[in-house]
Amino acid sequence: MKVLIVYYSAYGHVHKMAEAIAEGVNEVTGAEAVMRRVAETLTDEVLEKMGAVDAQQTLAHVPVCTIDELASADAVIFGTPTRLVTCAARCASFWMPPVNSGPKARW
Ligand SMILES: Cc1cc2nc3c(=O)[nH]c(=O)nc-3n(C[C@H](O)[C@H](O)[C@H](O)COP(=O)(O)O)c2cc1C
Repeated sequence: MKVLIVYYSAYGHVHKMAEAIAEGVNEVTGAEAVMRRVAETLTDEVLEKMGAVDAQQTLAHVPVCTIDELASADAVIFGTPTRLVTCAARCASFWMPPVNSGPKARW
């Protein structure tokens, strides 16, 4: 069973949680964790001002998730930092269907 763990992380905290979850998934017989991240949309200049450059380097080896990968997984675990009392905007735009696009718009 393929368990896709897809997340966004700016400073590395959600990344660490995703790693811990992947470790747990891989302890289950027949389950395989696949880690993927939501693409960063901020420029290097903005990341530098945020103090997030070092953290971004620690998770750069994780491949960016595609919509097709969401559909092909047996289970999906999403991870997002709380941003202004909701999920990070880049997560919402990645995994939620656009308004008025119908139920099969994304995956
Ligand atoms: C712009 C911004 C907005 C945030 N808004 C909230 C919030 O509304 N509630 C909260 O509990 N934490 C909030 N946080 C804190 C983050 O959710 C928290 O630091 C999280 O662990 C960061 O995860 P990351 O290191 O994987 O990016 C906010 C952080 C940032 C940078």
